[in-house]
Amino acid sequence: MALTLSEKAKNVKPSSTLVITAKAKALKAEGRDIVGFGAGEPDFPTPKNICDAAIKAIQDGFTNYTPASGINELKEAISQKFKRFNHLDYAADQIVISNGGKHALTNIFRAIINPGDEVIIPAPYWLSYPEMVKLAGGVPVFVYGETANNYKVTAEQLEKVVTPKTKALIMCNPNNPTGMIYSREELKPIADFIVKNDIYCVSDEMYENLMYTGEEYVSMASFGPEAYERTITCSGLSKSYSMTGWRVGYTGSTRELAKVMGSVQSHSTSNVNSVAQKAAVEALNGPQDEVESMRQAFEERGKYIYERVAAMPYVTAPKPEGAFYLFCDFSEALELCYKGEKIETTHRLAEILLNDYEVAVVPCADFGFPKHIRLSYAISKETIKKGMDRIEAFLNALEAVKSDEMAG
Ligand SMILES: Cc1ncc(COP(=O)(O)O)c(C=O)c1O
Repeated sequence: MALTLSEKAKNVKPSSTLVITAKAKALKAEGRDIVGFGAGEPDFPTPKNICDAAIKAIQDGFTNYTPASGINELKEAISQKFKRFNHLDYAADQIVISNGGKHALTNIFRAIINPGDEVIIPAPYWLSYPEMVKLAGGVPVFVYGETANNYKVTAEQLEKVVTPKTKALIMCNPNNPTGMIYSREELKPIADFIVKNDIYCVSDEMYENLMYTGEEYVSMASFGPEAYERTITCSGLSKSYSMTGWRVGYTGSTRELAKVMGSVQSHSTSNVNSVAQKAAVEALNGPQDEVESMRQAFEERGKYIYERVAAMPYVTAPKPEGAFYLFCDFSEALELCYKGEKIETTHRLAEILLNDYEVAVVPCADFGFPKHIRLSYAISKETIKKGMDRIEAFLNALEAVKSDEMAG
């Protein structure tokens, strides 16, 4: 027997965003003044009260194993947050605390998927979903949101792809990469769809605190008991509390599922870092004013970046409603020439922007929309301005393809 690799693992795509990010980092290290619109993480430090709680945990010697699915104090804090913010009742034994939202999602798919089960993924999607589903033995099925509907999918579209093998639907609200939010009126028929077809809904609510519409957040599980028992609500502290490095995510689900996910986790990573769990208790129970000031800063930046793009040629984007991403349609620009070369793909466009204009962006082929680019505005307004000036200069340098080139 040769030294072969796992077929499942071999089929996982490397993250294209990491390729661009690595290249941008290398150029920065060479001293180039790169503006990075790539990173999906807040640029703010973790609030001091949270850091202090972690320091205290260390000083108190809270440095041993904890129960695999998390300490009760944190589960209680999450349970109260679910009640306060999401109007959901999840008792402590329905909550599993994992190493970030990514790990929480991984646990979910491991817990619900049998080989060949289909999982519906609305596109554009966060690029990890299809790979997570495949790694768990499932089959991703894509449904494409229409531009006219701000890239959101409808229950009618979802009905068209349901088969006897459909196991779950993933919903991401507010959405990465589009920055759009499903309203209560848009979610209700989707909740009905889940109940009618008796499938799970994996509701990724990671950006629930980052909303700019002035409306109250609506959780998928809040549409009555039948939607509640089919929904696994997933969230975390990474984005809302600027705690990406601490790795704290969690799920709320039925007791049965929480037990299975807890067992899965107990045989893989065990508990989240004990100190980070104490910090998370302080994040959820302590003052929330910094969360609000970070939200306001993102709102202002989102407005600014949107207005800049709206004034540029060959690119369009919907006005951000949540998260910290602007989802830009560059299809017109792809038909044009840069220094005599037809651009064709967003990968090439991203390369040109990085090499010639010192701007790093994320091409969205791996998010299911190859003619789009995601701009993260989790960077300072001055940096956004500098980057937007450069993107504008690039777009102004584009020319129509000459007709003899077209003939050739
Ligand atoms: C939509 C979405 N869900 C989940 C996550 C995972 O977050 P974490 O850093 O907590 O693993 C991310 C991170 O980028 C995300 O964008």
